[in-house]
Amino acid sequence: MRLKLKTVFVLYFTVSLLGLIYALMQLGQRCDCTEHDAARDRTISRLRGELHSLREQMKKPEPTNPPKPALPPTIHVITPTYTRLVQKAELTRLSQTLLHVRQLHWILVEDSPHKTVLVSEFLVRSGLTYTHLHVPTPRESKLQEGDPSWLKPRGAEQRNEGLRWLRETAGGRQGAQLEEGVVYFADDDNTYSLQLFEEMRGTQMVSVWPVGLVGGMRYERPVVEQGRVVRFHTGWRPNRPFPLDMAGFAVSLRLVLANPDAHFDGDAPMGFLESSFLQGLVTMEELEPKADMCTKVLVWHTRTEKPKMKREDALQKQGLGSDPGVEV
Ligand code: UGA
Ligand code: MN
Repeated sequence: MRLKLKTVFVLYFTVSLLGLIYALMQLGQRCDCTEHDAARDRTISRLRGELHSLREQMKKPEPTNPPKPALPPTIHVITPTYTRLVQKAELTRLSQTLLHVRQLHWILVEDSPHKTVLVSEFLVRSGLTYTHLHVPTPRESKLQEGDPSWLKPRGAEQRNEGLRWLRETAGGRQGAQLEEGVVYFADDDNTYSLQLFEEMRGTQMVSVWPVGLVGGMRYERPVVEQGRVVRFHTGWRPNRPFPLDMAGFAVSLRLVLANPDAHFDGDAPMGFLESSFLQGLVTMEELEPKADMCTKVLVWHTRTEKPKMKREDALQKQGLGSDPGVEV
């Protein structure tokens, strides 16, 4: 701006000067001194040259600020969680992994009729960009003490609540305004490598990769031939529509918004929870294989042992239990 003003000023000054000289030539007395004429001609041609170069300079576009690099797509991680002794330990481990991932939004959904103090305070201190939601699993759908863990699907209502929030919040922004995003369902007890998040960031529809230590196997994975998923390596009912663990796929935000009815069926039979969401969204041929064509394990379906409270129970009976005011 400063340069431009200066340029205009110089231009104005030069044009005025030329005008003045021209006026003097018209009005001035004839001079028979050729030397004087020659000097005047040199001045005029020099000024003309300057005028020309100033004009050229003004034609050049103003230097603009370099365009800002576009932000990478946001990864929306939806995590169901529920109150139990190891909850804070699980959330600590997961949140400290997520802290290393740029452009990440954590949607933590409590399986609870209200937001708990433990989770609320935990999130405030987490340092993450988060949304805190809650929805209780209906009693009849919830595992009861002593039920085998596979009897009923877990976390279905909570993942659906996360999807509802995304559709309501991001759905308002359509077309070009809609930011690029990826949705990943991350249980609170698994182990995630940082590389996994960069693999899923480019998801166009649904991306897939292997999951370690799942389904009674070293790993389960989609089998890729010529860049396409052709079947699944799994030990149990390989003919399920999508024999994938929850940790083994991510979906683009656009696909989630374009399919407002896609959801997890809390009544799905064992092993069909993932299929209940994915069928209708993609076909096997459309899956995008990640992690070196599904040859690398970057996420593990680890499960935390339930801590035994035998001594705690015994001490409590004597009134000597651990201080309930100390959060664990
Ligand atoms: C396996 C899959 O990895 C899960 O994604 C799938 O939901 C589950 O099976 C199923 O079939 O329902 P698994 O280790 O057996 O996982 O399940 P959990 O880790 O016990 O639970 C999955 C998620 O749901 C966790 O984030 C957990 O915190 C949450 N959950 C569990 C609840 O919100 N409420 C519950 O009552 C239990
Ligand atoms: Mn688990």
